[in-house]
Amino acid sequence: MTIASAPGKFILFGEHAVVFGQPAIAVAIDLRCRTSLTRSNIGMMNGHPISEAQSSYVGTAIRSYWGAEPLSVNIASEIPSGSGLGSSAAVTCSTLAALHQLKDDFSEETVAREGFEVESQVQGRASPTDTSTSSHGKGIFIGSEKGPGCLWEISKDTRRWFVHHLDVPKLSVVVGYSGHKGATGPLVAKVKRYVDRSSFARDIIEEIGALTLEGAKLLKANDRSGLGSLMTKNHKLLAILGVSSPQIDKLVQASLPYSYGAKLTGAGGGGSMIALTDKVEKVCEAIKLRGGVPYVVHTGVEGVKVE
Ligand code: MEV
Repeated sequence: MTIASAPGKFILFGEHAVVFGQPAIAVAIDLRCRTSLTRSNIGMMNGHPISEAQSSYVGTAIRSYWGAEPLSVNIASEIPSGSGLGSSAAVTCSTLAALHQLKDDFSEETVAREGFEVESQVQGRASPTDTSTSSHGKGIFIGSEKGPGCLWEISKDTRRWFVHHLDVPKLSVVVGYSGHKGATGPLVAKVKRYVDRSSFARDIIEEIGALTLEGAKLLKANDRSGLGSLMTKNHKLLAILGVSSPQIDKLVQASLPYSYGAKLTGAGGGGSMIALTDKVEKVCEAIKLRGGVPYVVHTGVEGVKVE
């Protein structure tokens, strides 16, 4: 048996815009997904025959990078699915790592590249943000040019992303899960339709890109109040793009009196928000009072690994 695990993530700045080649900053968190694989007589998933619908990320990873030999797969995830916290990337990356370990050729970069291909196939359109964060762990900065600390370059059609290691200071972040799943593929497609027909939407995407570059500088300077106001600004721009939800807006509003700033994280349409705060208890309470589920997450965690 081979076991591998990979972390979830939150996106501090730049979701959706990064799909169009703009920069993004994402951070791995201490919620993990574990995949165990055993060679078997028939394909099984958590004790049941593998069904396409049930296991599109796992099924696509196996079909694309393993072949026909049946496997018994067991998935145990601490990351709520559809929460915007990278559950699909973590299941994809931990499965790919376990597959490569069975073939004796596991590497972080291979998992990041193949993970991106799997997410692109299943979702229809993606950026390497979630899968590269889950692979590398710690923090990543995605830019349109190669800079110091570049880990790998990934491209698709005319888009090109340079994925860099990012030193992230210890941040005190509360995640608020709205309890409603967001569907990444349809949300990414919705933003693309908007951007294709509206120069206003294209401007918003560029504005998010510029704000992310500013965020990278503030992160380096560990300027929490600057970061917080940029996060709140990023949230407003995402809401204009139509990817927030009434419940997420409520959780953001409820957190703001006790936070430097707050925003949705991930694809939106439900899912989760994050708040940067020194008043963790107060933010958790405010999120609970508005019907959300708070998670106090820790950063600085390892990426994909074979256990
Ligand atoms: C989802 O966590 C982040 C999006 O930007 C999609 C992607 O980057 O693939 C919405």
